[in-house]
Amino acid sequence: MSKAKPAVDALTEAQARNELEGLAHEIAEHDRRYHAEDAPTISDAEYDALRRRNLAIEQRFPDLVREDSPSRRVGAPVSEKFDKVRHKVPMLSLDNAFSDDDVIDFVARIRRYLKLDADAPVVMTAEPKIDGLSLSLRYENGRLVSAATRGDGQEGENVTANARAVTDIPNVLSGNPPEVIEVRGEVYMTHADFFALNKRQEEAGKQTYVNPRNTAAGSLRQLDSSVTAARPLKFFAYAWGEVSEMPSDTQSGMVAALDEYGFRINDLMKRCESAEALLAQYRQIEEARATLPYDIDGVVYKVDDLALQQRLGFVSRSPRWAIAHKFPAEKATTILNGIDIQVGRTGALTPVARLEPVTVGGVVVTNATLHNAEEIERLGVMIGDTVTVQRAGDVIPQILGVIEEKRPADAKAFEFPTVCPCALKTTVVREGIGTGGEGVVRRCSGEFACPFQRVEHLRHFVSRRAFDIDGLGDKQIEFFFNDPDLPVKAPGDIFTLAKRDADNLKKLKDKEGWGATSAANLFDAIEARRAIALERGIYALGIRHVGEQTAKTLARAYGSWPEFHDAALAVANEDGQAREEMDALDDIGDAVIDSLAHYFGEAHNRELVERLAGEIDVQEAERPTADSPVVGKTIVFTGSLDRMSRDEAKAMAERLGAKVAGSVSKKTDLVVAGPGAGSKLKKAAELGVEVIDEDAWFERVGA
Ligand code: IVH
Repeated sequence: MSKAKPAVDALTEAQARNELEGLAHEIAEHDRRYHAEDAPTISDAEYDALRRRNLAIEQRFPDLVREDSPSRRVGAPVSEKFDKVRHKVPMLSLDNAFSDDDVIDFVARIRRYLKLDADAPVVMTAEPKIDGLSLSLRYENGRLVSAATRGDGQEGENVTANARAVTDIPNVLSGNPPEVIEVRGEVYMTHADFFALNKRQEEAGKQTYVNPRNTAAGSLRQLDSSVTAARPLKFFAYAWGEVSEMPSDTQSGMVAALDEYGFRINDLMKRCESAEALLAQYRQIEEARATLPYDIDGVVYKVDDLALQQRLGFVSRSPRWAIAHKFPAEKATTILNGIDIQVGRTGALTPVARLEPVTVGGVVVTNATLHNAEEIERLGVMIGDTVTVQRAGDVIPQILGVIEEKRPADAKAFEFPTVCPCALKTTVVREGIGTGGEGVVRRCSGEFACPFQRVEHLRHFVSRRAFDIDGLGDKQIEFFFNDPDLPVKAPGDIFTLAKRDADNLKKLKDKEGWGATSAANLFDAIEARRAIALERGIYALGIRHVGEQTAKTLARAYGSWPEFHDAALAVANEDGQAREEMDALDDIGDAVIDSLAHYFGEAHNRELVERLAGEIDVQEAERPTADSPVVGKTIVFTGSLDRMSRDEAKAMAERLGAKVAGSVSKKTDLVVAGPGAGSKLKKAAELGVEVIDEDAWFERVGA
């Protein structure tokens, strides 16, 4: 360690071979001292440096990687599957912008929300959006203690052993880090490493990979961390989760601190003072894209001032203070071989294009959505046509247009079916004709009698944001739905699989595609999900117009399953007061209430829900722990506010555990009124509800 070593770039092959041999022995000896004797003789940083050097040499001379290379061995036990880790601070996703106008709107939205003066600058950062997978690394007292993938944003997979095998990720931080810091960023693979890996795979007669991102994801999620160690993964740090003491009060300052702690940060990040400056940086990065050694798929803009970020908060799962400006989608041409009709959860019939497989931006595309009959007509597309397809990120590929000169003589026009392709062959209804609304959607009216809709309902029920049952994906749902021995026709059946028949586990093990481990794991996963959060339970029912956000609002408002259930049954029974109360909830209007009434008005659904509720344990909605003076209160904001926008006021009240309603009723506890308040103020006076002004509001909540 004492003598300075030559740069990796300057090594000859013979020197490299020699050094790799030396490093293999040296690192093995340190591993032994550390693991077996618990008596290391070098610091973690020195140890990391040895491994990093070993990997750098291997990356330059991939043919020299030794059987006993430390990069193939990290000494962690092989686990059956990854444990789940709950993120202390959720890992969010980003909203997208696709055009300059979207970016201009984004900045304007921020200014409006913060009620900034026209000439007040908002400093923002612009940086590349790395096309990899995000990872959260927790350091305590400067040491890496755990690493988790994003998962659904709330809960990820524990990949600590694998993260330790990534040389770009320090095991020990440099500088002066806070006691606890969760560093977040993107794991990725460079083009050169991706091609070299594929070459090695090919030479070894092994499977090759589609693109660097999938390879990086696959490499990080290896159960055997020695495989991860042999893959040259890299990591850019750009965000954080829990931090015991913030080293800076700006986004750019935080990233500079991450740099000091020993992380790779992206040097294309720039601070900008206007939408124009952001767009200029976008063009710079777009231009640099072709020469960058790694994949990027856009530019991320973030508000620099962390106090402003805090005020802006989130909408659903994305922050208001950041956006991803995506690069234009990639395009290709191919042949339309046919059009299939898919029946969705709500019975909507969607035509799906079956394409001659084509690679678009590194991914093989075989299907594209055609949305509806009008879209087919608009495109003028016929089966057999050559079409242009585009793929943007993870979005389902789309057909952009037809190359008419290439139309073959035997091209066939597509006739939209007039009956559902399900066994019932119900007449397809066209919705909302004459209302100027959704006339384009054609629906199967079979509802719960239509097997397609039932399967889709079940798929939704177990999906990631609903019950999230591990090992119960689309394929498995279809299997259970059709299996005569282990039938699952409704959500409740999932939870009775184990107890319906003591032999069911044995039966499942013997089914094709299942084995002892996968069957046992599935039964365990089902048990683990018997307890469910109220908002997930409501969302999982798959009621039309009740998405995640609405489910959350309902859960917060009613607090427990019986209360929500009673309210839903009451609106189904046309109980005027129940309807009025629901209507008073912010963001809940007629479409949601009608849909709930329709759902709970159906005997079949009531029975399904009851059977399900008997099997599961729906937890009460999370009560805000905040000890604020407005917890549990129902508040109405009215009139114009000076110090914050209406949206900010609402978000603030909700953060403090209050419910925000759109109208004043007997249930209202407090009205915050600004100048110009009218009828709501009058109603509050009539009902004797307390009314305060904006300043008093700030005083009350201590902000
Ligand atoms: S910031 C709260 N910055 O994009 C925002 N994300 O669609 C946290 N990503 O899950 C994310 N490069 O995996 C941020 N420079 C960057 C990024 C980036 C890539 C990914 C990240 C995230 C996804 C959001």
